[in-house]
Amino acid sequence: MDKRPIGIFDSGVGGLTVMREVIEQLPYENIVYLGDTARIPYGSKSEQTIKKYAYQCSLFLKNKNVKTIVVACNTASSVALNHLEDNFDIPILGVIEPGARTASKVTKNGKIGVIGTTATINSNAYQSKIMEYRQDAEVIGIPCPLFVPIVEEGWEYSQVAELTAEKYLTELIEHEVDSLVLGCTHYPILRYTIKKVVGPGVRLINPAFETARDLKKVLTEKNLLNKSYDKPKYEYYATDIPERLRRIGGNFLKKEIDNLFEVSIDNL
Ligand code: DGL
Repeated sequence: MDKRPIGIFDSGVGGLTVMREVIEQLPYENIVYLGDTARIPYGSKSEQTIKKYAYQCSLFLKNKNVKTIVVACNTASSVALNHLEDNFDIPILGVIEPGARTASKVTKNGKIGVIGTTATINSNAYQSKIMEYRQDAEVIGIPCPLFVPIVEEGWEYSQVAELTAEKYLTELIEHEVDSLVLGCTHYPILRYTIKKVVGPGVRLINPAFETARDLKKVLTEKNLLNKSYDKPKYEYYATDIPERLRRIGGNFLKKEIDNLFEVSIDNL
């Protein structure tokens, strides 16, 4: 029995799609969420910078006395997970391994698409993890950097979104992938448009779902579950313009965002 909160961080609001899954599967856990809105996007930054930011976010959460950290950001998970595991003594979960595992399980023809930020795709993290699970897989990674601003504008159902998706995803259709990993926090919001473009035969994989399952498993095994069944407390921090997190974040979390605070990057 452990009432300490779970810490979740992302480069911005996108990680709230992961928090949503965590709440769904662990409804009694307290959560502290940090969105590094001052420094988003991580996806176009160097490995060194992403590692530094991810470390600072994790340290902030650790100082909030969290019992575990979920790296909701695919970019930070791709590039910095090992670095964080080496530097913190609490369980740290990323989204890559669960997403890769699911993809290798659901594919029938072994042809898997992965979409994400430029840093995520260039890191090869998803591609190599999938190959560990399924050596015969053919994995095609496509960076889709324009999807993040489209979602942040609230244009996920627009013609712009559809044309952009066509431009990015045609190659995957030509390769006849039968499953597609939505390897970025924002992409589950674009699900409808992506599905429309790739067609009903392609399974979309949201790594957040399996990540939340893994988290539940880890908390159970390590005896860290909060079994008090009290109404859980959620706290949100943003490194810039917290109001934006409240406004846009509602769409990601499907829930009102209260207890929202600003934290300067100087204090991370
Ligand atoms: N949260 C990031 C991810 O999942 C997307 C936004 C960014 O580039 O920072 O990769």
